[in-house]
Formats: sequence, C-alpha cells, structure tokens
Amino acid sequence: MNRVHIKTYGCQMNERDSEAVAAMLRARGYRIVGSEDECDVMLLNTCSVRDAAEQKAIGKAANITHRKKKNPDFVLGILGCMAQNRGAELLDKLPDVDLIVGTQKFHQVPDYLDNLRAAREAGVPIGETIIDIGEEAGSQNTIKDHLSPESVEGSGGAADLVPQVNAFVSIQQGCNMDCAFCIVPKTRGDERSRPMDDIVTECRTLAARGVKEITLLGQIVTSYGRRDYAHTNGISPFVQLLERVHEIEGIERIRFTSPHPRGFKEDLAAAYGRLSKLCEYVHLPMQSGSNRILKAMNRPYSRERYKEIVDSLRAVRPDMYFSTDIIVGFPGETDEEFEQTRELFEACNYDMAYVFKYSIRSGTPAADMGDQIPDEVKEHRNQVLLDILKKNSERRNAALLGTVEEVLVEGPDKTGKRFTGRTRGNRVAIFDANPRLIGQLVPLKIDRASVSTLYGELQLAGVDGLEADGQNHIPSSSGLMTSAGSQF
Ligand code: SAH
Ligand code: F3S
Repeated sequence: MNRVHIKTYGCQMNERDSEAVAAMLRARGYRIVGSEDECDVMLLNTCSVRDAAEQKAIGKAANITHRKKKNPDFVLGILGCMAQNRGAELLDKLPDVDLIVGTQKFHQVPDYLDNLRAAREAGVPIGETIIDIGEEAGSQNTIKDHLSPESVEGSGGAADLVPQVNAFVSIQQGCNMDCAFCIVPKTRGDERSRPMDDIVTECRTLAARGVKEITLLGQIVTSYGRRDYAHTNGISPFVQLLERVHEIEGIERIRFTSPHPRGFKEDLAAAYGRLSKLCEYVHLPMQSGSNRILKAMNRPYSRERYKEIVDSLRAVRPDMYFSTDIIVGFPGETDEEFEQTRELFEACNYDMAYVFKYSIRSGTPAADMGDQIPDEVKEHRNQVLLDILKKNSERRNAALLGTVEEVLVEGPDKTGKRFTGRTRGNRVAIFDANPRLIGQLVPLKIDRASVSTLYGELQLAGVDGLEADGQNHIPSSSGLMTSAGSQF
C-alpha cells in the first residue's frame, strides 16, 4: 500500500504544496503515481475560496469512498484549505475519510501515512480519523522539497525524459489583509515569510538542476518579509529578494504571484526597468472598479490609484502584459458600480483575467452583509467582462502575428505531437521542435493565433548549437499530478 496519487484543486500554491508533499512521501519510500486507478492512497489537496471548489472536492471524496468498500485498506486523505476550513465537520458528509490535514501540517502527512500503514499491516482496525488542523510555528519553512518529473510513475517510460524547466518557489504563507470576501486568512493563517537565504538557496538548487524559470509564490508576495527585513535605500524586502534571485546564474526568467496593488510602489516599478529576467507580465488583482465596493471589500486602494499603477508599469515597460482578478456581484453592487468596474476593466486592457461570481464564504464579513446579488445578475456581469476579455486577447494575439517572441520550450504539448512553451508575456505557444530544445529559450515566429494560444515556427538558424536536426523524438508528457482547478 505505498502507491500514492495526489489530486490538487485550486491555486498554484496548492499545486506547490502537493508537490512538496509528494517529494516528502517519495523520500519515505512511497511511490507517486499519475493514475488514480492504480493507487492505494489518494490525497485530495483542496480549495475553499469558492463554494463550487469545496463541492467539487466533496463530490470526488464521496465517490472515492466507494473504493474503500471493495478494498478496506484503501486510504483517503483530505488536505489543505477545505480540511482547515471544515475540519471534523467533514466527517458528517464523509465518515470514511482516514486523514484530514490542514494547511500548516502538510509536512506531517508522511508520518500519518506511515502510522496508518503500520496499523493496517499489523491488522489493527483503524477506527478514528486522524485530524490535524492546528497552527504550527515555522510551517512556512516546510514547503521546500521539489519532485523531479521522472519520479512520477504511470505515464509511460519516455515521460521520464522530460526535464523540469520551470519551478514554483513558496516564499510566504498566509495573509493578513482580511479582504471582506476572502476565506484565505482563515484557511492559511497569519502572513509568515520564509528566510530570504533559504529561498535563494532553493532557487540555486533548482537552477543547478536545469530549471530556467522561477515563479515566486505567496498570497501577498509584495508584502514579503515586511516584518523580518528592513527597506534598504527605499527598496522593499520583496524587491531585494527579486534582486537576489536575478543574480542566480542559470535562472533566465522570474515571475511572481499573487501581489497586492498596494505593494506596487516605485521600487517595484523601477525593478521592471533594471531586472531583465523579470518577465513583463503582471497579475494585479483589481476585484472591483468602484471605490465604494473596494472600501466595502476592505481593499485599501481606489480605482484612480489602481489605474495609476497600471500606467506606471506601462511607462517602464510599454509591452507589459496584465492580468487581474475581478469579483462580480459582491453584496450591494449596483448596476452603476458594476459599470465602473466594466469601464476600468476596459481601460486597463487586460490580456488575461479571472472573473469570479461572488461566493458566500461563511465566517467572512461579506457573508453577513445584506443585499446579496441574484445569480442571474452575477452571471450577466460575468459575461460582460468575459466578452471584453475575449476581444482584448484576440487583439493582442493578432498584434503578435508575424513577430518573433522568445519562448521557453517546456515539453510536448497535449497531443504529444508538437511542443509547447510560454512567451515572456505568459502566452502559451505551440510549435514543432526537437526534444533537445526542452529548457532552451528560443525565438518563435508567430504565424497563427487563437484566443488563448499562439502557433508558429522556431527560428533556429544562427542560434548557437540549436539548429534543428529535423527530427521530432517526442517523449510523452507526464503531468506531475492531476489538477482539477482552473481558476488561477
Ligand atoms: N492573494 C491570493 C488570493 C486568493 S483568492 C492569490 O493568491 O491570488 C484568489 C481570487 O479569488 C481573489 O483574488 C478573488 O478575486 C477571488 N475570490 C476570493 N474570495 C472569493 C469569493 N468569496 N467569491 C468569489 N471570488 C473570490
Ligand atoms: Fe484573500 Fe485579500 Fe489576502 S484576496 S488572500 S485576504 S489579499
């Protein structure tokens, strides 16, 4: 009973947590398998940010518990945000779950599975579910292990050849901003930063393994280290961290998510001018374009300030790509207030956006606000923004036709016949290539574009050592773990 499958819901932080759990389990002798049909242990790493995400994981867990009827040794665990948010209450709906582990206890999962396994091998029936959703000092420092793709089994031998090109690095856990709609401060706890030296060491190790692109992760990365490090010459600890990662040889691209608009002071805008590895792509959550709603949301900026930030970044990097998060139908949002959001949304000319219909999260201030907005209204507002986004995205992609963009070749695409990579602006591109090019930054001439994807031909003539040999030996792709989340 040592084959583990981890299914991840929600954001990139959850993906990263799952990867760290998988790496710890692997170090303990567990096998990480890509197929849920062939596992003895299934772990669901869950999301609570909207009700739909919780319902999805609960539905999946209910489904999986049928397997326990056939195989009593099968282990089902619920990890992460929903485990933290609901704790033992989950047992009302899911009495057969073996393990409920919160967001500060991921590193305990190997011990808990060892215990369950030992008990089963000894023939001792396990009655009680293990529930651990406590707080733990220093837990932000435990998400540090990485899994190499070749250590995920079950996708076919050649998969083992795909090297890791990009990596996520957790720099912080938790959030203290208390946005009125958001469950994250409850599920993830207080904002805690990892030591800068540890993060830099992790990035160096990844670079030595061939990783070219690093995405720094946290709930509010722009506040990184604010309690632990001083500003130096007006430079915030977050920008100091960017500078240090920028110095690492082998790392070619740096991204981060998620920032908060209030973190975009002059030092960060200027960093885009001087740190060439910092990709010209910013995810800047707006949430609403109405000052009254922003205030009710407890978001400490105005629509005017928000636009000023966008403009200041475009002044430094005219080719900057922007994405955002918007919530439509926050309690009390009038047509006029939504119109302000629509207007600002249009003015910012986003290349990507995540538009969410407000979802009541019990225990948050907004849940108790009167004047909840009907679903049809939310749906309509959602559609209005998505229509604008589609046009923007088509326009931006059309403007790229005929141009040459740098792509980082990541590996085979979904069909296994061609290759995929991303531009610095975070656009997905599909092209023919040679497996040798995985991990290389290569010029791509764009000749076709859909709303979300660019297609083109690599321009290898004259690029040292990268000339194509005309053959495509394509290793099949191995998703590290399956992901059911789509929003982030
Ligand atoms: N800083 C975090 C935010 C996590 S929540 C990050 O890493 O992105 C991600 C997004 O979900 C938020 O920016 C917000 O737009 C949306 N969201 C949060 N709570 C929500 C709710 N109750 N209903 C709808 N959308 C919500
Ligand atoms: Fe949530 Fe606001 Fe923090 S959206 S994660 S409380 S910045």
